[in-house]
Amino acid sequence: PKELTQLVLDNLREIPDFPEPGVLFRDITPLLSNGEAFANLIDGLAAHYRGHIDAVAGLESRGFILAAPLAVHLGIGMVIVRKAGKLPGPVLGVDYELEYGTARMELRPETVEEGSRVLVIDDVLATGGTAAASIDLLEQAGAKVESICMLLELAGLGGREKLAGRDIDSVVVFE
Ligand code: PRP
Ligand code: HPA
Repeated sequence: PKELTQLVLDNLREIPDFPEPGVLFRDITPLLSNGEAFANLIDGLAAHYRGHIDAVAGLESRGFILAAPLAVHLGIGMVIVRKAGKLPGPVLGVDYELEYGTARMELRPETVEEGSRVLVIDDVLATGGTAAASIDLLEQAGAKVESICMLLELAGLGGREKLAGRDIDSVVVFE
C-alpha cells in the first residue's frame, strides 16, 4: 500500500559510510521510536495479510521487531528463525554465503504446523541470503511460505532474483 511506503520513507534515516566506508545505511530506528508511525505500519500490514496467513516468521533480529506485534495484532503465532547456536534443539539449520564467509540460520521445526501458511518478515532484503535460508528451513519444517514482507528492499543486490518465483511485498524499494 502507498500510504505505508510514504510512512516508512518519512521515518527513515540514511547514514553514509556505516558500518563501513561506501555503504549507505538505512536506519529504521526513527520509525520504531515514533509510536504513531510504528502502530500505523503494523495496522497497515495486519489489514493486508489478515485471513491469508496462519503464522508470522520473524528473522533475527530486526525481523522480530516487526513479526511480534503483527502476530499479536492478527491473533496468530510467531515463529522465530535465529542465527546459529541460539535455539535449543532439536533444530534444523541452513548455511548460506555472506560477502565474506558464511552464516547459518536455525529453526525449531516443532514451532511450525504442517501445511500452515506462513508470512516471512524482515526489515531489509539485500542479497536475499538470509531470507532464502529461512524459507528453506520453514519449508523443510512443513510450512507453506505464502509471502515475504520486507520493509526495505535494496534492489541491485540480487535479493529478488535469489527469491525468484516468490511473492515479495517490499514496502520501500531503493534502486
Ligand atoms: C540484516 C537484515 C536482514 C539481512 C539482509 O541483518 O536485517 O536480516 O541482513 O541481508 P541479506 O539479504 O544479504 O541476507 P543482520 O545480519 O545485520 O542482523 P540483525 O538484524 O541482527 O541486525
Ligand atoms: N540498512 C539496514 N540493514 C542493512 C542495510 C541497510 O542499509 N544493508 C544491509 N543490511
